[in-house]
Amino acid sequence: MNRRPIILDGDPGHDDAIAWMLAKACPELEILAVTSVCGNQTVEKVSYNARRVCTLLGIDAPIAKGKRSPLVGPEMNAPSVHGESGLDGPPLPEPVMELDELSSVNLMAKILRESDRKVTIVATGPLTNVAALLLSHPELKERIEEISFMGGGIAYGNWTPAAEFNILVDPEAAKIVTGSGIPLIMSGLDVTEKALMMPEDFERVRAVGGQVAQIVADWLEFFYGFHKTLGYEGAPMHDPCAVAVLVHPELFQLKELCVEVETQGEYCRGTTVGHDRKPANARVNLGVDRSAFADLLIEAVKTYKEDSHE
Ligand code: BDR
Ligand code: CA
Repeated sequence: MNRRPIILDGDPGHDDAIAWMLAKACPELEILAVTSVCGNQTVEKVSYNARRVCTLLGIDAPIAKGKRSPLVGPEMNAPSVHGESGLDGPPLPEPVMELDELSSVNLMAKILRESDRKVTIVATGPLTNVAALLLSHPELKERIEEISFMGGGIAYGNWTPAAEFNILVDPEAAKIVTGSGIPLIMSGLDVTEKALMMPEDFERVRAVGGQVAQIVADWLEFFYGFHKTLGYEGAPMHDPCAVAVLVHPELFQLKELCVEVETQGEYCRGTTVGHDRKPANARVNLGVDRSAFADLLIEAVKTYKEDSHE
C-alpha cells in the first residue's frame, strides 16, 4: 500500500494522544515526524508527553520540541481540561527516546525537503509551528500535500463564546495558515463536539485488554470528567477527527468554504468565520457518523493488543 506520509504536530493533551494512537494504527498513514507545540501545557510538558505517548504507542519517528509561545499573543494553557502535566490520569511509561536536536520548524523543513512525496501535516494544537514554518521556509509550501487541522468552529467557540482554544491561542498563526493557499481540512467544533466517545464506549475500549486499551480508557474517563461538568454526554474527540478525516472521509460531512480568522476584536479574537463570498480555501468538516467513528477508534485500539507491554 502507498502510505500517506504525515507529520503529527500537537500539544498532547488527551485527545492529541488519542489522535496519535489512531494515526499509528492506520495502515494508510506513515508518521515521518512528531512535533510539539505549546498549547494545552508549556512546551516542556507537552514535549515530555509527546515522548511518553510515542513510547507507549511504539511511534518510531523523530520528535522535536516546538515553539514555546504564540507568534504574537501571550502563552495560554488549559490545565482545567488536561491537568497540570497536560496529560493527567494514568501513569505512562518513561520515554525511551530523546528529543531530536532540530527545532520543530527545522525538523519539519528537513522532512519536507527530503521526502520523495508531498507530506500532509496533521495539526492538533495551536498553529504556531506550522505558521513559523511557512514564514521561514515559504519555498517548502509546495511540498505540503495538505494540512488537516483541529481548530475553530463556524458556529461558535469553546474557550470564549466566539473562539475555539487552538485558534484563540495563536490567531495570527491561524491567519497565516488559512491564507497560505495550501489545501486545508478544518475540523472545528462543528464536527468535533459531535464526535463523542460515550461512557459505554470507554468500557468497549477497556474490554479490548492490554496496556494501550487501559490507558486510552483512562484518558477518555479523565477527559470526560471535565466535559461532564459542562453538560457533555461524552468525551469530545476533537483531535482524532483531524486524523480520521484523512483515512475515512466518508464518515464526515465536508463543505468547501472560505475560512477567515479574526485577529482583532474585543469579543471575537480567534473566531473562524466561514462563508462563500470569496473563493473557498478549506474543506470544513461539519458532521460525523458518530457511532462509526467510535468503532474506528475502538478498532484502532485493538491493533495494539499484541504489542502491549503487560
Ligand atoms: C482543542 O483544545 C485542546 O484542549 C484539545 O487538545 C483540542 O486540540 C479543542 O478545543
Ligand atoms: Ca490538541
